Amino acid sequence: MTFYPGQSLADAVREATAILTEAGVPTPRVDAELLAEHLLGVGLGRLRAMLLGSDPAPEGYADLVAERAGRVPLQHITSVAYFRYLELRVGPGVFIPRPETESVVQLVIDHLAGMPHPKVVDLGTGSGAIAGSIAHEVPGAEVHAVEFSTFAHAWAAKNLEPLGVTLLQGDLRDALPEHNGTFDVVVSNPPYIPAEAIPTEPEVALHDPPEALYGGGADGMELPTAAAASAARLLKPGGYFVMEHAEVQAAWIAGMLRGTGRWNDVTTHFDLNGKERATSAVLASAAPDE
Ligand SMILES: C[S@@+](CC[C@H](N)C(=O)[O-])C[C@H]1O[C@@H](n2cnc3c(N)ncnc32)[C@H](O)[C@@H]1O
Repeated sequence: MTFYPGQSLADAVREATAILTEAGVPTPRVDAELLAEHLLGVGLGRLRAMLLGSDPAPEGYADLVAERAGRVPLQHITSVAYFRYLELRVGPGVFIPRPETESVVQLVIDHLAGMPHPKVVDLGTGSGAIAGSIAHEVPGAEVHAVEFSTFAHAWAAKNLEPLGVTLLQGDLRDALPEHNGTFDVVVSNPPYIPAEAIPTEPEVALHDPPEALYGGGADGMELPTAAAASAARLLKPGGYFVMEHAEVQAAWIAGMLRGTGRWNDVTTHFDLNGKERATSAVLASAAPDE
């Protein structure tokens, strides 16, 4: 069976689901529906109603299904990624935000509860998912974001400008020296994949930018370690640092933070799948030799 002119929407979505299944797309029916929704400009409820009727498939549907079957990320085709309450613009050159990072944002929001006008920075902001969510969900927060890549910075600018986030193109290792010792929270989802651990999904391996994936060094820990050092530089005493990482890195990161002597309350956090995917810590009041 192939797509044909005048085909009904219901038949085309069934056909698309079969093609995407064959291509190894993990959620073929959902993706087939989301591509139809995108072209028709309707939400899921309306689409489901249309699937029960005799509406025709939208023009261009077969092309988008072919693109997705080539394992181009759905979000690159639709140019949208949903993250907490935000609809972020995304595309080639920027990391697509992941659901587990929503739990990292929640840790920050919980920590900030009741704090008037907190000052927060997101190191390696990518699309701006973390910084944008905090600006959106914590009224009165002063939010900064740092991104190194020119492409990602351009996507972040589109997403963060309307939310009032101050975005800087710079290196998380030495960014914002004029703000040293002033932040209440430093949050980061830095690149952390070890050099040899090339992801198997084509959407990630071929379409997420390498500079967003690989943390540097055989264990992927160069940038996470640098993010922790920058957090110690940027935070006020008593300030809160939270960082996402791979499950296998949890113990190493907790040990690394404790080993610096700069951090109290080092805590590993679970994501919604029960995996140890983030670590937080509170900056001690003074460096050990101070
Ligand atoms: C794993 S992605 C996370 C993006 C976003 N925070 C999120 O959670 O969806 C890591 C981001 O860090 C950026 N990055 C990598 N090295 C950096 C550096 N040295 N300084 C600042 N940003 C960097 C990458 O370009 C990428 O956008």
